Amino acid sequence: MARVSNFNAGPSALPLAALERAQSELLDLNGSGMSVLEHSHRGKVYEAVHNEAVALVRELLAVPENYDILFLQGGASQQFAVIPMNLLAPGKSADYVVSGAWAKKAIGEAKNVGTVRVAATTEQDGKYPRMPRQEELQLDPAAAYVHITSNETIGGIQWHTFPNVGGVPLVADMSSDIMWRPIDVSKFGLIYAGAQKNLGPSGVTLVIVRKDLVEGARKDIPKIFQYRTQAAENSLYNTPSTFGIYLLRNVLSTMKDRGGLSAVETQNRKKAEMVYSAIDARPELYRCPVDKDSRSTMNVVFNLTTPELEAEFVATAQKAGMVGLKGHRSVGGIRASIYNACELAWIENLVKFMAQFKK
Ligand SMILES: Cc1ncc(COP(=O)(O)O)c(C=O)c1O
Repeated sequence: MARVSNFNAGPSALPLAALERAQSELLDLNGSGMSVLEHSHRGKVYEAVHNEAVALVRELLAVPENYDILFLQGGASQQFAVIPMNLLAPGKSADYVVSGAWAKKAIGEAKNVGTVRVAATTEQDGKYPRMPRQEELQLDPAAAYVHITSNETIGGIQWHTFPNVGGVPLVADMSSDIMWRPIDVSKFGLIYAGAQKNLGPSGVTLVIVRKDLVEGARKDIPKIFQYRTQAAENSLYNTPSTFGIYLLRNVLSTMKDRGGLSAVETQNRKKAEMVYSAIDARPELYRCPVDKDSRSTMNVVFNLTTPELEAEFVATAQKAGMVGLKGHRSVGGIRASIYNACELAWIENLVKFMAQFKK
């Protein structure tokens, strides 16, 4: 079996050790005589896995005790709607930073629920070359929350220093860069992320939310969408994605084995530096459309001089065992998604390929 160098944007590469553990435990989890797929979500065997997954999130991200950790379904896209449903009360308004395709979707759903303001946008001719600067934010001090997208997966831009939003809860879509490094969770009111990049398979959405926001959230929405429902039941109000949470547990335990998020960050910075250096080293062929101070450490986007050359780049790379390099269909170009599980050896192959291509 030859595993490829997988640069997919999500679902994306998972740590081999996490997959091998799933393989070895698949038919018989912990001597129970059955697979995690066959266990009741109310039984002791699954409960242990579930609680370990919650504990690993708390430990790795140093989540303070006054935050609930939830495993929900419906993806980050469902959270685009569920966040305003819970936190945007009638008569209030929410601030959104519009930094790209995902932020646009988030604000689009919030508009269906209540009143929203654009606190900043860096849009230039339909493109978003960078994140806004602190002084560009026009914040409403009475806002219900401020929403940011910590990493724009399609545009390849990332917040490197999170904005100061005063006393207003900061809500962040961290779908594509959660756990790429340690962060101070206490700076946020709510963090959410679809699991299918850095955390595990699709089908699980991690939500980390301050308890006072859960308690104060609206009660006039369906029970299944109220954060308090799942918070009160440890995300077991209804049947969760048990296999997804199991695999997330495996992924997080490999991160812990690697030395936690500081070690993960060091490796991620090194990988990103290698790819951006390979782009900058050949300006006659490659160009990154993102301003240097907003370049993403997770999704490196770049262009070649023509779409034909880009297609050739993707096809030739694929023949050399590197997959998933085609840019998002809405923007074209090349995108190398180099999440936590993307191995250093894959990056070494990629940069070697980039140096040699068309020489
Ligand atoms: C930043 C960001 N937000 C939201 C989403 C949507 O996630 P989901 O497909 O889990 O709804 C994605 C998907 O790639 C994403 O990258």
